[in-house]
Amino acid sequence: MSRTYPIAVLPGDYIGPEVMAEALKVLRAVAAKSDIAFQFDEHPVGGAGIDAAGKALPDTTLAACEASDAILFGSVGGPKWEHLPPAEQPERAALLPLRKHFGLFANLRPGICYPALTASSPIRPDLVEGGFDVLCVRELTGGLYFGQPKSRQTLPDGDIEVIDTMVYRKSEIVRIAHVAFRAAMGRGRRLTSVDKANVLTNSVLWRETMNEVAKEYPEVKLDHLYVDNAAMQLIKAPRSFDVLVTENLFGDILSDEMAMIAGSLGMLASASLGQPKGDGLYFGMFEPSGGTAPDIAGQGVANPIAQILSAALMLRFSLGLEAEAAAIEAAVRSVIQLGLRTGDIFTGAPGTRRVGTQEMGDAITAALP
Ligand code: IPM
Ligand code: MG
Repeated sequence: MSRTYPIAVLPGDYIGPEVMAEALKVLRAVAAKSDIAFQFDEHPVGGAGIDAAGKALPDTTLAACEASDAILFGSVGGPKWEHLPPAEQPERAALLPLRKHFGLFANLRPGICYPALTASSPIRPDLVEGGFDVLCVRELTGGLYFGQPKSRQTLPDGDIEVIDTMVYRKSEIVRIAHVAFRAAMGRGRRLTSVDKANVLTNSVLWRETMNEVAKEYPEVKLDHLYVDNAAMQLIKAPRSFDVLVTENLFGDILSDEMAMIAGSLGMLASASLGQPKGDGLYFGMFEPSGGTAPDIAGQGVANPIAQILSAALMLRFSLGLEAEAAAIEAAVRSVIQLGLRTGDIFTGAPGTRRVGTQEMGDAITAALP
């Protein structure tokens, strides 16, 4: 009997809806080839939520997420809403609350440089050739993003003081450590923990805890890097990494760096997961790691691959549809191999052709095995 999966679809702003349309196209084609169906429940979020319902995360949008097996998210924010007070901005009033509300503490960002894309990487080809393939495991609901107090005040002398607080509990470090070690077990069994233990009390506990959890995974080789050194090593020796694990803000920064090494932010998918449910699957939110790209919105040129690969991660982690997830990943690999390139990954290399958002989505749909 065919099974229907309810999915909350939150395209968001600027290029969000453009790339989302391509991901839905691919998912519909996947469903048509198998015995499954998706019920897409589309709702405004971010700036679109503000415009439609007066707030970035409308109640009906949150209710739809709660009623779904997973959230497929585009991206939010942009110049249209920048005049709003910081706390009402789409990112802070929609994206972060969604992550917190659903306890999505584990953010997985797979950075892969396909062999055919080495020319799109700004890194010297000999450093990425032979495959750059790193998984960044970013802690997503702690640290500076959420720590209290957070404030801004004008002092009696007229100066302005701002405070962001970095808070982690050991239990939060333990649970992300397990996610990272398990991921490393399923890959090259090497884990690099990134911190700033030479300066931050937070990082000292982070490092101690990683070493402690490591005892449960003797097959995994764990090492530690300070974040500044990690940023350098990623550029110097990108292939020396397997799995990275780090706290929220460091992971935000390093994952953009990783995406660029792999060719483009437009290729970097992400899965934000909570604790596993009883069936081994996760409730999760799946979104491209990049932003809304207002500068290219409305032109039909954005790269939909990060959104499409995020949909594949959704099939794998939230729905348990491994074969279908792998089919999407294979289709992406094959159109890259065929030479199709959106502007962000187009270098003019022989055998490649510049295409728009829809043509890329169509080609990936047609390439589904
Ligand atoms: C990301 C984004 C977000 C983050 C922003 C939009 C709040 O950069 O998902 O990496 O910092 O987490
Ligand atoms: Mg980011």
